[in-house]
Amino acid sequence: MEKEKVVVLTGAGISAESGIKTFRDADGLWEGHDIMEVASPTGFEKNPALVLDFYNQRRRQLKEVVPNEGHKALVLLEEQYDVTIVTQNVDNLHERAGSSKIIHLHGELSKMRGVQYPYKIYDCSGDIYVGDVCKRGSQLRPHIVWFGEDVPMIETAIAECTQAAILMIIGTSMQVYPAASLINFVPQSTPIYFIDPKPSVNESAYQNLTVIAEKASTGVAKVIEELVGF
Ligand code: APR
Repeated sequence: MEKEKVVVLTGAGISAESGIKTFRDADGLWEGHDIMEVASPTGFEKNPALVLDFYNQRRRQLKEVVPNEGHKALVLLEEQYDVTIVTQNVDNLHERAGSSKIIHLHGELSKMRGVQYPYKIYDCSGDIYVGDVCKRGSQLRPHIVWFGEDVPMIETAIAECTQAAILMIIGTSMQVYPAASLINFVPQSTPIYFIDPKPSVNESAYQNLTVIAEKASTGVAKVIEELVGF
C-alpha cells in the first residue's frame, strides 16, 4: 500500500534545543548581528570578510551540535509515511538525525558556490575567505539564500505541499516569504499541526489546524504519537 505523504515545514525553532540560536528571538539580532548585515547581497558587497567569517563560524558550530529529540522523532514517521522535510534551516541536523527526503529552501552551510555561478554548487566543510575562488575563478560564497535572492527550491516545495495528506509546521515565526506561504498550498482537508512555543498563525484562517504551543522536543513527539501510535 502506498504511504500517505506528510510534509514537514521546519524553521530555526527545531534546532534551538540543539544550541543553535533562532533569528528573531533576540531583538532582531542574529548572533549579535543585524540580519541584513550578514544575510543580504548588499551586506556581502559592503563587507565580504565579515559575512564569510560569520558563516565560517556557523559552519564550525555544526561540528559542536547534535540533532535533538525533535529532529529524531521526525525520522520515526518514515516507518509509516512518505515524509518530506522542507526546512528553512541551513544546518544539517535533519540529515544527521537520519531523515531521508529534505528540501533546503534557504540553502546549506555545507555547500558553497562562485558568486557569478549560482548553479554550480560545491561541498564545503572548511572556512571560506576573501580571495578563495571556484574552478571558474569566481569568489566563493556560502550556498545560502539571502534576503532579496531567488528561492529556487520553492516550486518543488509547493508541489510537495499540494500532495500533502498531513502538514506539520515546527519552530518558525512564519515571517519570511515565500516559505511562509507554503501553508496555503495544502489541500483544504489536510490536517495541519503547528508546533511552536510562541505560535504565530492565524488560527481562524485554517480548518483542521491543531496548535501545540510547546517546544519541538516534546511537541513533535506528541504529534508523532498521534500519527504513528507510539
Ligand atoms: N522548539 C520549537 N520552536 C521554537 C523553540 C523550540 N525549542 N524555540 C523557539 N522556537 C520558535 C520561536 O517561537 C519562533 O516562532 O522558533 C521560531 C523561530 O523563528 P525565527 O527566528 O524567525 O526563525 P525562522 O522562522 O526559521 O526564520 C525564517 O528567516 O532570517 C531568515 O533565512 C532565515 O530561514 C530563516 C528565515
